[in-house]
Amino acid sequence: MQYPTRFSALPEYAFPRLRTLLDPHRPGGRPLHMSIGEPKHPFPAFAATEVQKHAAGFNRYPPNEGTPELRQAIARWLERRFDLDHVDENTRVMPLNGTREGLFNAALALSPEQKNGQQPLILLPNPFYQCYMVAARAAGAVPTYLNATQATGFLPDFAALPAETLDRTSIAYVCSPSNPQGAVATRDYYKTLLKLAEKHDFFIFADECYSEIYRDTPPAGILSVAQETGVDPERVLAFHSLSKRSNLPGFRSGFVAAGPKVIRELRQLRGYTGAPLPLPIQMASAKVWADEAHVRENRALYRAKFDLADRILGNVPGYVPPQAGFFLWIPVNDGEAAALELWKTSGVRVLPGAYLSQETGSGNPGRGYIRVALVAEPDEIERGLRAIGDFSIRSVNS
Ligand SMILES: Cc1ncc(COP(=O)(O)O)c(C=O)c1O
Repeated sequence: MQYPTRFSALPEYAFPRLRTLLDPHRPGGRPLHMSIGEPKHPFPAFAATEVQKHAAGFNRYPPNEGTPELRQAIARWLERRFDLDHVDENTRVMPLNGTREGLFNAALALSPEQKNGQQPLILLPNPFYQCYMVAARAAGAVPTYLNATQATGFLPDFAALPAETLDRTSIAYVCSPSNPQGAVATRDYYKTLLKLAEKHDFFIFADECYSEIYRDTPPAGILSVAQETGVDPERVLAFHSLSKRSNLPGFRSGFVAAGPKVIRELRQLRGYTGAPLPLPIQMASAKVWADEAHVRENRALYRAKFDLADRILGNVPGYVPPQAGFFLWIPVNDGEAAALELWKTSGVRVLPGAYLSQETGSGNPGRGYIRVALVAEPDEIERGLRAIGDFSIRSVNS
């Protein structure tokens, strides 16, 4: 066997890396996990009832393109949530095993071997959800990191790229609301990106899996901006999930919406390699997309956590209240040192920002940050935030 392979040089994944950093040390208090973004609020009880009701479906291979019920529920949700004209459930949506699977496989399906005679570039925000980088490599493209810092509103500045870079680009990933910073793309931001995609002929993969967790104003959806500006729907893929919206990360249930040709390409690849959602999960997912009451309740729980964070961390220098999502992106001197210190002094486990970012010519935008997930119970979160606040104030004064 010949090594290294295309993936041998991948950095160790964030969570084993965190265990290597922290586990040799004793926690300075009751361990509190604020590192992993696993939703913990209750999921709607009817989801389990629906799975039970359709349990006989475990006996069958599920349809690759999704059941009509699920595709219809998704299409109607898109129309309601993003004010879209008719979304054809037969040609414009495809259920996924969570957005992660789609964010990866769509790059394989759609990135060409060459773009304008060169190896294509795939643009990624930096820091970023790590799946994008591996997708870019798997597709044989060059992952190209765009620093998303406070100076760029915590979103990548695509318009600042030279024309040659954009001409070589096959796909641009964008994440809004963003993980880890909780920044939200405005309609104007999306308009600029859509214009660039048309001019330089690349796809946009919009990861909007946090779109339902916000304070007051629902984040813009790229599909609605594309509709308003008359952009070719084949350019834009929007990814959504029940994982965060409905606290069902274990359902592995999401979808992608795009133009009919793109959906055909994705179905084709999936027909050969995919593992579609089990039928009972598809049937239950249809019911979950159709219900908003539990989503409103979920949002209210997060809103209270945001308020708590603002109250406790408001005085921490450089603290920027997140607009949406469920992470805090907190500036510190050195993210790794801060995560270690917090663990050793209080048992609070947070993720060093650099575990989600890459070195670039203009530095590593995650190095001076920690990412804190607001998924635990409120009183636990309060304990964690107080420890983080004390630590931040101490480090500023030292
Ligand atoms: C930014 C982002 N995108 C995608 C995902 C994948 O979520 P799922 O596959 O559960 O939909 C996550 C999960 O944490 C995420 O943070």
